[in-house]
Amino acid sequence: MRRIKSFARSAGRMTPAQRLAVDTVLPTYLWSAQSPIDKPFILDIGFGMGHSLAWQAAHYPQYHFLGVEVFLPGAARLATLLQEKNLNNVQIALGDVVLLLKEQLPLHCLSGVQIFFPDPWQKKRHHKRRLLQSEFLKLLLRHLQPSAFIHFASDWSDYCQSVRGLFRACPELSLTPTQSSLQPLKRPQTRYENRGLVQGHTIEDIVAWLPEQDSNL
Ligand SMILES: C[S@@+](CC[C@H](N)C(=O)[O-])C[C@H]1O[C@@H](n2cnc3c(N)ncnc32)[C@H](O)[C@@H]1O
Repeated sequence: MRRIKSFARSAGRMTPAQRLAVDTVLPTYLWSAQSPIDKPFILDIGFGMGHSLAWQAAHYPQYHFLGVEVFLPGAARLATLLQEKNLNNVQIALGDVVLLLKEQLPLHCLSGVQIFFPDPWQKKRHHKRRLLQSEFLKLLLRHLQPSAFIHFASDWSDYCQSVRGLFRACPELSLTPTQSSLQPLKRPQTRYENRGLVQGHTIEDIVAWLPEQDSNL
């Protein structure tokens, strides 16, 4: 059966500079399951053109980031930004995050997950294409460490409402941090956020945490 995809396009017309970046810069940053993880590890899902991820990488050198994106020109742009800023704490997984989680990423390796301004799929008949739904959340949870966070941001109030409901209904998650919970990272304002603000939307950041490890286990 064909799986419903949360993205509209994975490729697009590329400028010669983008094509060159795909061939020469992107390979340096591509993630492999063998890459050693020696810092708290944050997964950023759907980084777009990579501006917020490059900003976070520069501001949080104590973290290691894995950015996943299906859109090839976006991956090329992020790789170029990383090279320009001489940042080496980000790796890029090119492709669908569902496949990354199912087939490649080790279990319980993530300290945090960020989903910033995912495609809203505004029409009701398209809501089934929204990324963050119960099946996807189950998949994500298997890769989180104790005390890890999931940080979702959107300007679409009905998407935010459904995500809050999803987090509340999930017995593994809490919407209030404990002392040991990892704090979500600051994020810069992106193009998608600006567009939402111009349209008069309210931006919501929703964070949920996994509990700390049960010391009786
Ligand atoms: C609206 S953009 C937001 C970009 C960025 N996070 C920001 O805030 O500027 C959503 C991005 O998610 C990507 N995306 C959607 N579904 C995805 C999936 N299943 N796996 C990887 N990336 C995905 C899209 O290609 C798109 O670039």
